[in-house]
This record gives sequence, C-alpha cells and structure tokens, in this order.
Amino acid sequence: MNRNAKRLVVAALLVWLGTFRVHPATAQIERDSLTQTPPMGWNSWNKFACHVSEDLIQSVADAIATNGMKEAGYQYVVIDDCWQVSRDENGFILADPQRFPSGIKALADYVHSRGLKFGIYSDAGSKTCAGRPGSQGHEYQDALQYARWGVDYLKYDWCSSGTRNAEEAYTTMNNALLATGRPIVFSMCEWGTAKPWLWGKGIGNLWRTTGDISDKWSSKKKWPDGSCCEYGVVDIIDLEVGLETFAGPGHWNDPDMLEVGNGGMSNAEYRAHFSFWALLAAPLMAGNDVRSMAPDIKDILTNSEVIAVNQDQLGRQGRRVRKDGDSEVWAKTLTDGSRVVLLFNRGAAEAQIAVAWEEIGYPAHLEAKVRDLWQHKEIGSVAGRYAAKVPSHAVVMVKISP
Ligand code: GLA
Repeated sequence: MNRNAKRLVVAALLVWLGTFRVHPATAQIERDSLTQTPPMGWNSWNKFACHVSEDLIQSVADAIATNGMKEAGYQYVVIDDCWQVSRDENGFILADPQRFPSGIKALADYVHSRGLKFGIYSDAGSKTCAGRPGSQGHEYQDALQYARWGVDYLKYDWCSSGTRNAEEAYTTMNNALLATGRPIVFSMCEWGTAKPWLWGKGIGNLWRTTGDISDKWSSKKKWPDGSCCEYGVVDIIDLEVGLETFAGPGHWNDPDMLEVGNGGMSNAEYRAHFSFWALLAAPLMAGNDVRSMAPDIKDILTNSEVIAVNQDQLGRQGRRVRKDGDSEVWAKTLTDGSRVVLLFNRGAAEAQIAVAWEEIGYPAHLEAKVRDLWQHKEIGSVAGRYAAKVPSHAVVMVKISP
C-alpha cells in the first residue's frame, strides 16, 4: 500500500470511529457499563434539602476522599434540587450565583480532582419539586451544558410533568444525554407511578420504585397536595417485593437514597436499612453529613462485607423467601453460588428466626459455612438450617456458602 492509500485508510478509520463513538446504541452500551454493579455515592437531599452550596459539595468530596468511603466504593457526589435559579437569554440553565460563585464547571473539576465523580439534578417537567426551572423543552440544551461542565450522573425528577408520558419524557432526556457523547449515568426519579421497571431498561441506569424515603423506621405520610406518599424504611422494603426480576447489570431498581446517620433511627435499624439496600442490589447513595458522622455510622456505611453483597457481579436482586407475621427471611444469590440471607425481625420483641436450606435452593443434607457479615465472624458449618435470635427492628445477615 502506498503512503496516500495508507493515509486514506487511516482517515476512513477515524471517520468510522467518530461515527461509532456517537452512535446512540454504542453510547448506551458504554454508559450502561458504568453501572454493571449498583452505583455508589452521596446525594445532598436527605440531609441538606435546598441548603446546597459549592462549599458543602467541596467539603463532602474532601470527606469522602479521605474518610474511607472512597476506598469502600462511594464514587458519585450528587447535588440534588436547588442548585439552579433561572435560564439566560439563550435558554441555558444558570446556577445560583450566591451559592455557587465559582460555577458548576469549577465544582465538577474539584470533585474530579478528589478522584470522585460529579452528579447533578433536574426534572422532566417545567419545574423541579422545589420550584426551580425544569428541563422540559430544554432537554438537549441542558444535556449539552451538563456534558460541557463534566457531569457524570443526572438524577431526573418528575414534578410539574402534567400529562406527560413518563416513558417518552425519560427517553427524550436519555437521547439528549447520549447525543452529547459523554457517558452520564441516568437516574430516573419517577417514583414508580408508571411502573418504570417495565420499560426503564435501556433508558435509565436506575429508576425509583417508590415515593420519597424519610428518616423513619415505619411511616406512610401523604404529601400536602394529597398525593401518596413519603415512606419509612419498612414500607419501602414491602414495596420491593416482586420487583427482583427487573434488576440486573446496567439497570437497577432504586428504593431511594440512604438515611443512615440522619438521626431518626437506632443503629440496629440503620444496620437493617443498609443490609436491605445491599441485598436488594439498590444504589448505595449515602444521604447523611459524611463530614461529621459518628464512628458507628461510618462503620455501617463502610462495612466491606455488606457492600460486597451489593456489588456482587452477578447483579441479582435479593427477594423475600418467607413471611411469618413480623419474622421474615430474605435471600440473594451471589456469583460464587453462595447465598446471603437476612433474618428480619420487624416486631417489638426479640424473635428466633430460622432459614431452611430448601428455601434458598440448597439440598437439606448440604453442609454449608455460615458467616455473620456484621459480626465479621465465622459461625461454623451446619446442615439443613440456620437459626438465630434477632433483636427487635433488626436483621441478622449471614453468608451461607457450600
Ligand atoms: C422529589 C424527589 C426527591 C428529591 C426532591 C427534591 O421529592 O423524589 O428525591 O429529589 O424531589 O425537590
């Protein structure tokens, strides 16, 4: 081949690669590869609501980078609602100049400089849930701006969406994100109203399955407008039953962000909350003030044995195996064939709860090792069943390996 022919081949290859790079199907595969296991990070809403600023986000990124959370797998630092105030004369979204004086690009650069990824929030309707400008009619322009800023994750809410069709609205924003050529994790926050688990795969990386979580064990409270609802942890757990078949690598059910460490529950309840989110292959988005948390809260959020259950490559969501009143058994199969079991006591008094091997797909005669993932201790080898005393509002979490 002479030189000119070689140049021609290289040029053709580059053009082909360029086309390839922005082809939506390929962009989608590349984007979905970012969430082969559930995303992990932190989001401002549960603790700070509208009190967000660049100082807060920077100091949170500093904390995550240095307090062991980054090593444990937490990656995305996401500003939720209230960072945005208006649009400029060309329709581009503007950040609050008082709270974000250096601008969003500088903030994204800062988060990246700490070895973390940066996320932001918008809404499929005309306004966000806090009344800030939404993205309806500005989807491509907003996606372009996010890509220019270096955004890695978008949480996209559903307030003021009127009669919009959810699948259409989320598809439009997904197409806009893919068209930027920057892989941006797409977190669909539609609250489960239009059953996004039925159509969300291939559109978003995760989809909310319920209304908002609150920092309570059990509570179901209607919103001021009469619509349903804000939930406690056990109410959300109940709403996940039956959704396990819809989750898998690249596409996850999202039972909402963590409340661990926000003060409304006991440590046993927070351990149960975190254990369930791990077993449900839920996104692990911390929602507390990680700059000043007590050591026992940090120990919950960074329990590497529990996080490994969440991040298992097989990507199976755990399921409820049995319910006997306030005693429940839940199980998740891991890549190596072992089972992680939660013995769950939602009652007011201590209870003895057992799991039988047949319930988790093992033959009764099988001798299996049992390891407690909160005590970090081998319990021993047993055949047939395992039983433990479980305190009120708590779980015992064990890994059972043949
Ligand atoms: C909705 C969402 C929450 C949070 C707020 C922000 O309620 O479900 O997670 O993003 O809006 O206003």
